[in-house]
Amino acid sequence: MTAGRGNWGSRVGFVMAAAGSAVGLGNLWKFPYLTWENNGGAFVIVYLLAVLVIGLPLMMSEILVGRKTQLSPVPAFTSLGGKKWSALGWLGVTSGAIIQAYYIVIAGWSLRSFVQCLGWSLQGYIAPAESEFGEFLSNGPLQIGLAFLFTLFTASIVYRGIGGGIEKANKILMPALFAILMYLVLTALTMEGRSEALTKIFMPNLSTLKLRGFLEAVGQAFFSLSLGLGAMVTYGSYLDKKESIFKSALWVVVLDTLVALLACVAMFTIIFSVSGLGSRVSGSTIGMLFITLPDLFYTHMPGGVILGPLFFVLVAFAALSSTISLGEVTTSLVIDLIGWTRARATIVTTCVVFIGSILSALSLGANGLLSSFEFFEGKKGVLSTLDHLAANWMLPVGGFLITLFVGWKLGRRTCMDELGLLQSNPAFTAWLWIVRIVAPAAVLILLISVIMGKDFS
Ligand code: PHE
Repeated sequence: MTAGRGNWGSRVGFVMAAAGSAVGLGNLWKFPYLTWENNGGAFVIVYLLAVLVIGLPLMMSEILVGRKTQLSPVPAFTSLGGKKWSALGWLGVTSGAIIQAYYIVIAGWSLRSFVQCLGWSLQGYIAPAESEFGEFLSNGPLQIGLAFLFTLFTASIVYRGIGGGIEKANKILMPALFAILMYLVLTALTMEGRSEALTKIFMPNLSTLKLRGFLEAVGQAFFSLSLGLGAMVTYGSYLDKKESIFKSALWVVVLDTLVALLACVAMFTIIFSVSGLGSRVSGSTIGMLFITLPDLFYTHMPGGVILGPLFFVLVAFAALSSTISLGEVTTSLVIDLIGWTRARATIVTTCVVFIGSILSALSLGANGLLSSFEFFEGKKGVLSTLDHLAANWMLPVGGFLITLFVGWKLGRRTCMDELGLLQSNPAFTAWLWIVRIVAPAAVLILLISVIMGKDFS
């Protein structure tokens, strides 16, 4: 262990932090939306398969690289694979910085929605005008201010380091998140839309399954499990040598998937409980979370006055535990590579990434040029462009290279030792061949389809 890098206090500490990274806007917003768009059941099955076949083995691979080297991605891949492989680390860190830059802007919206709901709970609900959300998005100073607040929250935790900052925060954020989510789900299940919702989510209609759904499921598994950029390499680098990588990874994957499914159950039930709404929810990935739901809380849901503000605490907590992990990726790089103190590394990397956040914040209508340029077809403005670039290109490429690296370059012996499995163990053989062949092949199909024009952001 490099002196002073810090360490998780326990496996629970690691699992909470890694699950915190994984559980985020991807679970609360992207997963329900994708499930809705892909007609439910069959998509959920494919997603679960993607998580099991690609997600879990890749999560183990990333943790393995981090734990083996006790270093952040750039020096980790360099020390195991030689100078050439440092590029893989750089790709990851760049992806992390890009995601952080725009993710923090969306995370900031949860703060505004929280305040707005608090006002409605105290003073009575007034349905906002239809143009209201658009006006909020194009308010540049407000967007920058909210992103700044969220950046400040994130940095103040990363600044305190692994045990005293990140682990401690997640040990509060994650149980609170689960409690609020359970309350939301249980309340939702008292509403009459529940059976329609459960049928839609859990009864697969295989005839509606399209290749597109399969590919979207793989992309979502990457994003939701925080894979393909080295976030799990970084968190794995602080994991104690005696902890089981398989068990730790399994916990993270199960928790992340559970939150995604629960969020879906809650949202679908609420939507199906309002007659006629089902056919109107579409068109916007953001709309469901920030416009439709708050309205339903106050107009249709029992106890909505409490659930309204609480729900956005949930969203903020989920997002914060994810932005913390992204902040740690860039901060730990600077600590390992240049040898700066954590304080200095946190401040400098935060400032650099915040420049990207300012550009993203102004690209929602406040600044004409930043909002309207179109690099990828149909993706207008900085925020959408960065999201498209990271989710469609950088994470899959990173994930593909990581599986190749661990499967073919690292060597059987190293993997066995680090996983604590014997060569004769069929579980090891299964894992190895999944990492060598199955996972990269699936990702390759995804990449080829992206090249041929399919969008996954
Ligand atoms: N997994 C997070 C989510 O679901 C997003 C994320 C991606 C966080 C990559 C860290 C790294 O919202």
